[in-house]
Amino acid sequence: MRLVLCRGKEYFLVEKFEGELHTHRGVIDLSELKHANPGDTIKTHLGVEYRVLPFKPSDYFRFFRRTSTPVMPKDIGAIIAYSGIRRGDTVLDSGTGTGMLAAYLANAVYPGKVITVEKRWDFAEVARKNFEMTGLDNIHLICGDLLEVHRGFKIKFDLITLDMKDDRDFVEHSKDLLNPGGCLAIYNPYVEHARDVVRKMEQHGFLDIECFELLRIDMEFKRIGSRPSTGVWHTGYIALGRV
Ligand SMILES: C[S@@+](CC[C@H](N)C(=O)[O-])C[C@H]1O[C@@H](n2cnc3c(N)ncnc32)[C@H](O)[C@@H]1O
Repeated sequence: MRLVLCRGKEYFLVEKFEGELHTHRGVIDLSELKHANPGDTIKTHLGVEYRVLPFKPSDYFRFFRRTSTPVMPKDIGAIIAYSGIRRGDTVLDSGTGTGMLAAYLANAVYPGKVITVEKRWDFAEVARKNFEMTGLDNIHLICGDLLEVHRGFKIKFDLITLDMKDDRDFVEHSKDLLNPGGCLAIYNPYVEHARDVVRKMEQHGFLDIECFELLRIDMEFKRIGSRPSTGVWHTGYIALGRV
């Protein structure tokens, strides 16, 4: 079992229910959390209260260890919504990176499977630990180069997500690996790259091709008035196509 302790913008993930947790506001005896339920509060030795919350998929982004730059939740949400994936679907994802996209997808398709491919073994190790944190058993991590590994695939996929430099070279292979109605979703920070990917999808007869960027604008609410608290915050372009 995993729990989250929260106070304002401070969050702690609790995975062991023994020993001590040192916060800036005192020490928490973790054994006291053994019988805690979400909604309870726990006090540090200084009497400062933390709220006990369940560990949820929305916490992946907060607690996953980072290697490469992960896809942001706003973009993951769009990939899930626009691709039309559903419970029981099979997904191919590459490169795994921190495993952020793969984990959210695994949660969305459970008990369907996510096969995720990462060529760097050191990144794969971190992703494997991040996947353990989710408690999900439907993520299969392959350490290797997708451009080679895909030759061994005997199954087809409902969604292929690519977030790697060589994704342009994988568009044509994706077409053969997708089930009818399946979707290819490519995420990339550079617009030239997104344009090339769209051209490739057109050349290979993908349907419903679209490419967009989503902007998230955070708001701050002050006594004097309310306004966006972030400038324009670019993450990446999402290119989608169906077969
Ligand atoms: C930006 S990161 C992916 C982040 C990931 N989507 C996430 O949400 O955490 C790109 C990853 O692709 C991996 N990669 C690049 N080319 C690859 C290839 N041909 N096969 C497998 N992995 C590859 C890199 O090692 C890197 O970890």
